[in-house]
Amino acid sequence: MRPLMRPMKLAGDELIFGQGALAHLEAIKSKKMVIVLGDDIVYKNGVMDIVEKHLKKAGTPFKVYMGIEPDPKFSTVLKGAKFMLEEKPDFILAIGGGSTMDAAKAMWIYYEHPEIKDLETIADKSKFPKLRGKARFGAIPTTAGTASEVSRSIVITDDVTGYKHGIGNMEMMPDVAILDPVTTLSKPRRLTIETGFDALSHALEAFVSSRANVLSDVLARFAIKEIFEVLPQVINDLKNIELRERMLNASLIAGLSFTNVSLGVVHSISHSLGGVLHLPHGTCNAILLPHVVKYNSQDVEAKKRYDELAKMLGKKDMVTALNDLTKVLEFPKTLSEFVKEEDLMAHLDEIADLSAADGCTKTNPICPTKEQFKKLILLAFHGEK
Ligand SMILES: [Fe+2]
Repeated sequence: MRPLMRPMKLAGDELIFGQGALAHLEAIKSKKMVIVLGDDIVYKNGVMDIVEKHLKKAGTPFKVYMGIEPDPKFSTVLKGAKFMLEEKPDFILAIGGGSTMDAAKAMWIYYEHPEIKDLETIADKSKFPKLRGKARFGAIPTTAGTASEVSRSIVITDDVTGYKHGIGNMEMMPDVAILDPVTTLSKPRRLTIETGFDALSHALEAFVSSRANVLSDVLARFAIKEIFEVLPQVINDLKNIELRERMLNASLIAGLSFTNVSLGVVHSISHSLGGVLHLPHGTCNAILLPHVVKYNSQDVEAKKRYDELAKMLGKKDMVTALNDLTKVLEFPKTLSEFVKEEDLMAHLDEIADLSAADGCTKTNPICPTKEQFKKLILLAFHGEK
């Protein structure tokens, strides 16, 4: 086991999870809160009723900022920051999936530091500013997948190039994370599978990361076991709050693992495919996973780790385990269902270059060459044939 070279930070000040956890909103001290929502779905499914009830009981004044697209753009971030500069909250609360939480975290930065006008400055580690001069930040995830509520990362899309920029800094770790499975109850089958695969890929990539350590291993192992067991059950029982709770906790635990040790090339390629061809994150991850696991298995240490997981899951090997899960979930096995071959081929070089430059590539067990990236992308498009 390698020595732990950097300190672990598992979450912010307050981490609350389980059924009824939304009641913790009453304990948050705030003179003015801005709640950031993606769209009005939390009004339709009753989640906002619960949130408002608790905030009213606590006497916390709040304003709602709504309107964040999937794969949020930098211009959206600036719009939200402008709203905050007018409202002057001392607490920002994001309620939603990964896109909403990421965009709200980014809005927080530009609210605290309106002198920063571009994305490049915060992408530069040495220039990342201090936060919390004006507000603290809380997150309530409504999907079991991204774990942005306990991560130091955001993914923001450049309006001009369309590229997705993954930016990580511990300053962005939310101070408060509230995970209540009631928020995920209305999520449809397809989204439940996609986000579940995202959580699984977080844990699997953290487990073979070159920065993996004993603590991230414990977390990743548990999340992987739980997702393999629960995901096939929950998609046939979407209103089962116990199963939803287990998935939300598994996503959280996968997040606690990866935010400290980073990810691998499933995410590098997935970010690049998403940025250039606008393919959904969880879908790309699900399809890429078995190909990347096979590729990474050339590394003796990684292969040993995958074999340990396969044994835990009662499977011959991890590629089989993943293919079996995809089959049980009746999830597509190739990207050919989502993008035309000519569109992929027209951008193949660009996607391979972006994947190589992605921050997640650094911690993959093997660093693929450009040709190997292209091969992995084509395998995900065509399948093994
Ligand atoms: Fe992810």
